[in-house]
Amino acid sequence: MAVTLTSTLTEELTLFRRTLHQHPELSLEEYETTRRIRAFLDKHGIEQLDYPLETGVLAVVRGKQPGPCVAVRADIDALPIHEETGLPYASQVAGKMHACGHDFHTACALGAAVLAKTVADSDASFVGSILFVFQPAEEAGVGANMVYDTGVFQDFQVGAIIGEHNNPHLEFGKIGVKSGPLMGSVDEFRIVIKGVGGHAAIPHLAVDPILVGANIVAGLQHVVSRAVSPLDSVVVTVGQFNAGTARNVIPPHAVLEGTVRCLQPEVQDLVERRFTEFVHDTAKAYGAKAEVEYERQLPVVVNDEAVASVVWDSAVKVVGADNVVVATPTLGGEDFAQYQQHLPGCFFWVGTGKRYGWHHPSFDVDERMISTTSQLFVEAALEWLRRNA
Ligand code: NI
Repeated sequence: MAVTLTSTLTEELTLFRRTLHQHPELSLEEYETTRRIRAFLDKHGIEQLDYPLETGVLAVVRGKQPGPCVAVRADIDALPIHEETGLPYASQVAGKMHACGHDFHTACALGAAVLAKTVADSDASFVGSILFVFQPAEEAGVGANMVYDTGVFQDFQVGAIIGEHNNPHLEFGKIGVKSGPLMGSVDEFRIVIKGVGGHAAIPHLAVDPILVGANIVAGLQHVVSRAVSPLDSVVVTVGQFNAGTARNVIPPHAVLEGTVRCLQPEVQDLVERRFTEFVHDTAKAYGAKAEVEYERQLPVVVNDEAVASVVWDSAVKVVGADNVVVATPTLGGEDFAQYQQHLPGCFFWVGTGKRYGWHHPSFDVDERMISTTSQLFVEAALEWLRRNA
């Protein structure tokens, strides 16, 4: 049985998304957003769960008979970006914006919860339950672990998790699905190069950390191109290079900070090792010393084959085979990956084809995909439950 949204519900979800859009809240500050989600779920008679989360909401829709449980996850936080869309429902908070479309994601999961409830009330073949996760703090990379640490996944013995991200680079109306790696790992580093300060005109009595740093910045790109297979994907970006106080002074130290992104967990291990060796050895070659802090923030989003096949088949049902495409990966990170450390999952793209990319001040999503995505969430969740009953 195909499930569809009423036009009233679609309109309600669109308005809800616009309200969130006008009132963006940053990671771990999503108090009003949480209140609005709770009110929406209350209005539609959806059971909310009591777990220790400051922000974010957990809800469940139970079928007629007990059985397995599958989770549907949406993130709810905004970004510290000043909106420049000029939309009538643009952000009313200076310097804050839903520039990644998590307002859209929230609306899609709410729509799915309402649809699931409709099916649960009318269809005796709905066995098992669907856990709805409205997750805080995705942008901070900490929300998924906070949700997981509540223990709700163990209590409900959740067998799989499904999530999506709007994708402005994917044509409107398309759904992108693939098994295997979809989004990059996120590692962050800080390098302190310790040289010897001195007079700019007498360099031989100093050890110039700026020159060492410049060679490290350039050389790291060679680590990428010569230590990693050209068939694998890696990005190393030095985003900050700070050194010096005057034109005629060689400073005693320089600080480099940046990020490393990979698409294969084994490449992540290789890059971390070669990165660290290269920085230490380069500094040593110049008579300097380097201190390296290298921290893994997020693992790779790797989709499970069985769950991805459920999402693919459900997408075909919802948007037609012509509109389901093999997802193109990105090296952007997602803390959805943290759930996938514990249970199989599938993260997919929703084509919202607008002009501006994620985190751009003119970013927007095409709201017409809210109902489609809600429907797909429910189809996929029910299909997973059928295959795993
Ligand atoms: Ni996002």
